[in-house]
Amino acid sequence: MILDRIKPLDAILATAEKKSLNRTLGWFQLMLFGIGCVIGTGIFVLTSAGAQKAGPGLMLAFAIAGAVCIVAALCYAEIAAMVPVAGSAYTYSYATMGEFLAWTVGWALIMEYAIAAAAVSVGWSGYFSGTFLNELFGVQLPPWLAAGPLALGGAPGGLINLPALLIALLVTGLLIIGTSESAKFNAILVAIKVTALTAFVALTLTSPHFDTARFNPFLPAGVFGGWGTGVGAVGAAATIFFAYVGFDAVSTAAEETKNPQRNVPIGLVGSLLFCTVFYILVAAGAVGTIGGQPIMGPGGVPFPAGSEELARQCAMPQHAGALVCSNEALAHVLREIGFSGIGNMLGIAAFLALPSVILVLIFGQTRIFFVMARDGLLPEKLSSVHPKYKTPHVVTLLTGGVVALGAAFFPVGKLADISNAGTLYAFMMVAFAVLILRKRDPQRQRAFRVPAVWLVAPITIVGCVFLFLNLPIDAMLFLPGWGALGIIVYFLYSRHNSHLGRGIVEVVDDIEGDETSIPINPPKG
Ligand code: ALA
Repeated sequence: MILDRIKPLDAILATAEKKSLNRTLGWFQLMLFGIGCVIGTGIFVLTSAGAQKAGPGLMLAFAIAGAVCIVAALCYAEIAAMVPVAGSAYTYSYATMGEFLAWTVGWALIMEYAIAAAAVSVGWSGYFSGTFLNELFGVQLPPWLAAGPLALGGAPGGLINLPALLIALLVTGLLIIGTSESAKFNAILVAIKVTALTAFVALTLTSPHFDTARFNPFLPAGVFGGWGTGVGAVGAAATIFFAYVGFDAVSTAAEETKNPQRNVPIGLVGSLLFCTVFYILVAAGAVGTIGGQPIMGPGGVPFPAGSEELARQCAMPQHAGALVCSNEALAHVLREIGFSGIGNMLGIAAFLALPSVILVLIFGQTRIFFVMARDGLLPEKLSSVHPKYKTPHVVTLLTGGVVALGAAFFPVGKLADISNAGTLYAFMMVAFAVLILRKRDPQRQRAFRVPAVWLVAPITIVGCVFLFLNLPIDAMLFLPGWGALGIIVYFLYSRHNSHLGRGIVEVVDDIEGDETSIPINPPKG
């Protein structure tokens, strides 16, 4: 039987107990951590792509994507407070749905984290070239060094996005030498980001340029643009869902949280609510001041964001100032309404803060690889730890290399959509895991219980499937393609090498080798 290998929950919990970290975090620290991981390229850059898909309906899109993430966060809160170990959705699935499905989740998480890191690197590059080099130093990068090739959705004249490649490699280097973000540093970056967004909201909503007529038509591409087209309010929601990705990283801090029953859900849901409100206000400010109507193609359908056709349209003089064409959406809006200095400061805020989002994402990726390798599902060599820096340098280098290549050649919108496809799959599986555990193990102590779980978890599942089906068709197809590759790897390598399959339950929860090894009767298969 293919779905037989379930890792005993008790073995996982034994490790968590053994580790027994100090419970020091309160809801406020969790919220800061959440906001630090979440606010990034999604709001600072993808606002343009979202407007190209939905026009002013971008505000509705932020609300839809935020709502799906909030119900998913409740599911994460229950399972994270119960199974507080590394590997997040992968580990939860291993304990509930067995090795094969856990493998597919781990495989999808590679899509989530690595490709998201590439997307944030490209987002950073827009602010680096636009604000830092151009506005502050008057240096213009030649187009062939500033974007990927047009054929892949880059800009006319683009060949390679050098700044994006370099920032991905720099962050990888920092991770290899063991850089981690301290809570204090994170708090400073959160303050910078929130101040920048607050200034944006205050200046745009009170600006004399603000005109409610710009919200009309509110839904130029409708609510549903059609399956696979990626346009309309729900198409935009599927893309700007990216702006919320990363909160799942917070769930792994559950075991360090005081009174997790209360603080984990407040931290997770609170940070998402905070971001949702902010994002809607930012969208209102951007659209209300400079307008956010899409550039329409034949048949009154918006040109696809990140497409060659749109890039050509944006190169035309009549679209020069359009929100939907900007690589640094928010700084661009402020410059257009006469706040160039503050626009540049916002650009600097993005320039300073986005690398920490890349760091969290690559870090998350390496830890999932690491846990999968220690379970025997990936070659053990991948989990080797550097003798001096004590970091998993092989996986970090591998991940960083892939991230850098993705960032060098692909546009931000496409990367974000592909990352979203993997994330939506993982969120859906977490909701299933919560339901399965409720059924299979109803008596087990739960530090937090999802209220009305038989409503909230199915809503999460439906919401994830719904957003997935509203992604552009190529991003949607990437998931089964990537999944098929994963299944081949599983049957050619992982199934035979799995430690659980060989009768050893190993639960590893950190790089220093804190692990519990419990021999069991090898399952058949
Ligand atoms: N949510 C993160 C961002 O928008 C990944 O950059």
